[in-house]
Amino acid sequence: MKVLSGIQPTGRFHWGNYFGAIRQYIALQGNEQSFYFIADLHALTTVREPAVLRQNVADAALDLLALGLEPSKATLFRQSDVPEVTELTWLLMTITQMHLLEKCHAFKDKKAKGIAADAGLFTYPVLMAADILGYDSTHVPVGADQIQHIEVTRDLAQRFNQLYGESLVLPEPYVLDDSAKVPGTDGEKMSKSYNNTIPIFETPKKLRKLIMSIQTDSTPMEAPKNPDTCAVFQLYKLFGTSEQQQELAARYRAGGMGYGAAKETLYEAAMQHFGTAFERRADLEKRPADVEDILVQGARVARAKCQQVVARVREACGLSAKPV
Ligand code: ADP
Ligand code: TRP
Repeated sequence: MKVLSGIQPTGRFHWGNYFGAIRQYIALQGNEQSFYFIADLHALTTVREPAVLRQNVADAALDLLALGLEPSKATLFRQSDVPEVTELTWLLMTITQMHLLEKCHAFKDKKAKGIAADAGLFTYPVLMAADILGYDSTHVPVGADQIQHIEVTRDLAQRFNQLYGESLVLPEPYVLDDSAKVPGTDGEKMSKSYNNTIPIFETPKKLRKLIMSIQTDSTPMEAPKNPDTCAVFQLYKLFGTSEQQQELAARYRAGGMGYGAAKETLYEAAMQHFGTAFERRADLEKRPADVEDILVQGARVARAKCQQVVARVREACGLSAKPV
């Protein structure tokens, strides 16, 4: 499998990002190709402050490495360090039919809300297609919200191949485990747009406070409770073994346990789960040059691959294989 995925550095990674995406990236490292990049070019469509973008990219690299991405098994790089991807974006843009982009959710939603979209947002899926096709990727781990973009990618690859002969590899979505619709502190889907996130790398004190703020119903302490409708339990399920889950579920059903106690159990499980990642992150934070080196080495590997693909594509459509 030639695996590739990108994650936007648009804020601090939260539990939803971890269970819905990052955990699977880590599980898929060590494949024939395991390329993961920080999608800073995509983030430019929403992050307009240079210092914020820089900080987000630095944090994203630290987070991914601390959570278990290993440079010996996976290639981690910044999207913008491979400029051939933007070149490929143009080549693909020339064969992209407008209607394909007009139906894409991100653009359609903005338009429906009467918000003016810029060309970057409109052509976002073409840049994403270039990210994928530029490395001959075969499998793209993504959340359900991104499947439409993989379909656009396949359409573009097919059209290019029809026009210019077999040049691009058709990728497949590797759909991430959707049991991972991780709820936020208000019980809705955890998302930074809803202001209900639990960041992965939060101080223990703030983490505890956030967990204690998870909304629960008003069932009194003594009464039996339903674990299946409780966000605290849904979150605990992500951390606990099946025995641990059954044990907590039994405490819910038996009554006599308040939500505070369930939250305490969740807090302890989270601290245990992310304990080593916390330590690794603290260590990496002291070694920014080493982190930068990982990104630079990663970009070298990724760029060499992308240059081969772009040479093939340039030649196929009638340009010289390489610029002079
Ligand atoms: P946000 O909704 O906070 O802006 P993103 O859209 O940047 O998060 O998320 C990047 C990826 O993380 C998504 O494609 C998805 O796979 C995963 N993800 C985000 N939030 C959740 C969630 N609540 N449950 C499961 N997966 C999630
Ligand atoms: N659009 C993706 C998201 O918001 C991020 C992304 C950019 C990506 N390029 C990609 C994901 C290529 C997979 C492959 O989650």
